[in-house]
Amino acid sequence: FELREPDNEPVYSYAPGTPEREKLKEEIERLKAQQIEIPAIIGGKEVKTGNTTDLVIPDNHDHKLGVTHLCGEKEVEMAIDAAMEAREEWAKMDWQDRVAIFKKAAELLSGTWRYKINASTMLAQSKTAYQSEIDAVAELADFFRFNAYYLTQIYKDQPDSPKGMWNRSEYRPLEGFVFAVTPFNFTSIAGNLPSAPAICGNVALWKPATSSVYSNYFIMKLLQEAGLPDGVINFLPGNGADIGDPVLESEHLSGLHFTGSTGTFQHLWKSISDNIEMYNTYPRIVGETGGKDFIFAHNEADVDALVVAALRAAYEYQGQKCSAASRMYIPESLWDEFRDKFTAEVEKIKMGEAEDFSNFMTAVIDQGAFDSITEYIDFAHDADDADVLLGGDYDDSEGFFIEPTFVHAKDPHFKTMEEEIFGPVLTAYVYEDDKFDETLELCDNTSPYALTGAIFSQNRYALNKMADRLRQAAGNFYINDKPTAAVVNQQPFGGARKSGTNDKAGSAANLMRWISIRSIKETQ
Ligand code: ALA
Repeated sequence: FELREPDNEPVYSYAPGTPEREKLKEEIERLKAQQIEIPAIIGGKEVKTGNTTDLVIPDNHDHKLGVTHLCGEKEVEMAIDAAMEAREEWAKMDWQDRVAIFKKAAELLSGTWRYKINASTMLAQSKTAYQSEIDAVAELADFFRFNAYYLTQIYKDQPDSPKGMWNRSEYRPLEGFVFAVTPFNFTSIAGNLPSAPAICGNVALWKPATSSVYSNYFIMKLLQEAGLPDGVINFLPGNGADIGDPVLESEHLSGLHFTGSTGTFQHLWKSISDNIEMYNTYPRIVGETGGKDFIFAHNEADVDALVVAALRAAYEYQGQKCSAASRMYIPESLWDEFRDKFTAEVEKIKMGEAEDFSNFMTAVIDQGAFDSITEYIDFAHDADDADVLLGGDYDDSEGFFIEPTFVHAKDPHFKTMEEEIFGPVLTAYVYEDDKFDETLELCDNTSPYALTGAIFSQNRYALNKMADRLRQAAGNFYINDKPTAAVVNQQPFGGARKSGTNDKAGSAANLMRWISIRSIKETQ
C-alpha cells in the first residue's frame, strides 16, 4: 500500500477584489472583536491555570487579543501522564489510521480553517496575508500531507527474506514521549514539530512560543477536529524553564524536536546530558537553531535579480525568518549599481499594520526583539567602520516598528556581519574583485552557523567554485535565488554547524528520527 505523492498546497494571493481577501478580512475583524482565553490542552481537555499573560498585536500593542494561561510543573506532570496513557493505543494503532488524521488535518487547513489560521498568524505574529498564507496554511498543509506520504515510503522498505525465513522491519515509535519546543516565526514549524513524531506513533508534549500561542492553539483545535485522540499531543503554553525543567526530568523523555535559538538548544542538550542516567531510552535530539545567512555575489551576477533577492530575503517578515539574509558580499565593480537600484526599491517599501494588505513589512514580534535589534542598529550608527545607508529609524510607541535597514561595513568582521540579529538589518561588505577567493573563504569562516546561503553569477565556472568552497556553509543553498521560502518536498529545510542537526524538516530523514525499528526474523 502506497500513497500517491501529493501536490503542494496552492497559495492564495489575496489580491484586491478576490473573495478570499474579503473572507480573510472578515475573519480578522471577528478575531479582533473578541477576547480569547487560551488554555493548555492536556489529555484532550482544556486546562486554565489562572496564571495568565496578555496576548497583544505586535503592530498595535495596546490591542489585546486575550490572555494565555501559563503552565508549570503540575500541568507538565498531568501532560506526561496523559501522553503515556494515550501511547498505549496510539503506538499500536494502524499507521493508515494515523495517516488519515493528518490527511484530514491538511484538508481542514486548506478548507474551513484556512482563514482563521491565516488571520490569527497575521494578528499575533504580525505577518502580512501572503507571508501568513505561505507559512501557516500552505507549508503546514504540505507538512501534514508529505509526512503521510513519506511514512508510506518508509514502511514499504522491508529487508530481504531468503527461502525458509521471513524477515521484516517493524517501524515502531520511540518508547516514551517527544518534547516539541516551537518558535514564534513559523506557524508551520510549530505545527509540524509535534505532528511529525505523532504521525509515526509517538505522543508529544508541545511547548509553543508564548508570542505565537494564538495560531498554535487553533492548530491544536484543528488537529482535535481532525480526530487526533486525546493525549497524543498535549499543548502546554508557558515560560521556558517552567515547562522545560520538569519535562527533562521525566524518565519517559525519548526525544526533543526543537526550533529556536542556539543558546536554548544548547541549554536543553546539556540538561538532557546531565540527566542521561535517568531516562529509559537515549533521547533523540533534533534541532534547528540560529543562522547568519548570506548572499554572495560574483562580479558576473545579474544585479536586478540580486536586488530583488536581497530585498525579499532581508526584509520579508521583518527579517525574522531563520532563513533571512543578513550579510552580503558584493564585488566593487557591481557596488554602485547595486546600491542605487537597491535604495530605489527599498524606499518603496510600505510598513504598517499587518491587516492593511498594502503593507510589505509590519512590526517585529515583541519588545525583547525590538530592543535587541535596535541595539545593533545603534551600534552601527555609532561605529566608524560602518555606515547606515538606509533605514535605521525605529519606533515602538504603537507597534514594534523598525525600518528596513541597510548597513555598509568596511570591516568584514563588523559586528552586524557576524552576529545573528533576527530583524530587518542587512549588512554588506564590498570586496575587491580580485579578492574573490579570499572573500569566499571569509564568508565560510565568518559565522559559526550554516543554515541558508545564496550565490549569484551568470558564470557557471564561478558558480561551481562558489558552491564547492561553500559546501559546508549552508544546509539550504540557493543559486541565483533568494535564500528564503523553502517549499516542502522541493527544498527540505535545515542546516548543520551551529544551525542545527540538519534532520531536514519535511523529509523521510526527519521522520526516521522518530522511529525505532524492531528487526524481526521468523524461521519458517
Ligand atoms: N521554510 C522557511 C524558509 O525557508 C523556514 O524560509
